[in-house]
Amino acid sequence: MEDESPFKAEIVKGKVALLTGGASGIGYEISYQMGLHGASIAIMGRRKHVLDSAVATLLSHGISAIGLEGDVRKREDAIRVLDSTVKHYGRLDILVNAAAGNFLVPAEDLSLNGFRTVIDIDSVGTFTMCHEALKYLKKGGIGKDPSCGGTIINISATLHYTATWYQIHVSAAKAAVDSITRSLALEWGTDYDIRVNGIAPGPIEDTAGFSKLAPEEILGSAKEHVLADNKMGKKWDIAMAALYLASDAGKYINGATLVIDGGDWLGKPRHTPKEAVKELSRVVERRSRVELIGISKSKL
Ligand code: COA
Repeated sequence: MEDESPFKAEIVKGKVALLTGGASGIGYEISYQMGLHGASIAIMGRRKHVLDSAVATLLSHGISAIGLEGDVRKREDAIRVLDSTVKHYGRLDILVNAAAGNFLVPAEDLSLNGFRTVIDIDSVGTFTMCHEALKYLKKGGIGKDPSCGGTIINISATLHYTATWYQIHVSAAKAAVDSITRSLALEWGTDYDIRVNGIAPGPIEDTAGFSKLAPEEILGSAKEHVLADNKMGKKWDIAMAALYLASDAGKYINGATLVIDGGDWLGKPRHTPKEAVKELSRVVERRSRVELIGISKSKL
């Protein structure tokens, strides 16, 4: 059964949203929820059959949707897709950068091209889409209210908050995405009334990201532990956050990257059971005071 939305059905009514990587995974769920809450949807992706099937499903739910083929690594694709979106719907209010590339690889085995490919998709792709979307998203942009700009949401990750095994390329790429989010929030929030925020999802069920990072073939019997140790989220959790950020409910939020991971990235394994700490802590404290008193008396 689908989780019910806590938001009013018209929370993004009348808005036009373009989502890169919007035909599958987290990007698709954001497309779907924004559509259910009143937005018209354009999704950009590389694979025509995936786009076609996503658009057909959105249309079957009564959502206004179009699919536009394109690769965020190509500036001409970005320009064409943005142009087609605005030609079709007359305006652009929301840009969601959800396109991403990922694979597991030890740093020593990653080629320069492999590193660059992920940076190109995640970081440069995000900047390219934002850069080319500026003229549509800024206040007074085509079809827009002269007093009100649009909003951008960049999908990030938590990998780079510490360090993550076999993810040097994605960690570097997402660190750049977070930095882009803050710089654009500062410059474009001030100059053009565009809010720029990010979402950093933790492990999310049923996504290419999770199945690539925790594949059964690699984890084998350890998979159950990984699943038990990770608090898995749903695509819905991310889509609700995107709705919040894109709607007027989030109108005072700019330059933030919202971590949505159930606290997962904070997780250090518990080294001592809680009951043991309760018993031992006072004993240790008492001993250290006795030792301190002993030291100070010996100095007299
Ligand atoms: N391990 C090591 N290197 C890898 C790799 C892997 N598993 N997969 C790709 N690479 C390297 C390639 O060897 C190549 O480098 P080289 O020229 O030095 O050999 C480089 O990465 C580019 O790979 P290529 O397959 O040509 O790129 P692509 O543009 O076809 O695909 C990817 C891009 C690799 C990011 C691909 O995984 C992709 O399209 N991902 C999108 C979907 C996705 O990852 N979703 C998850 C989102 S979290």
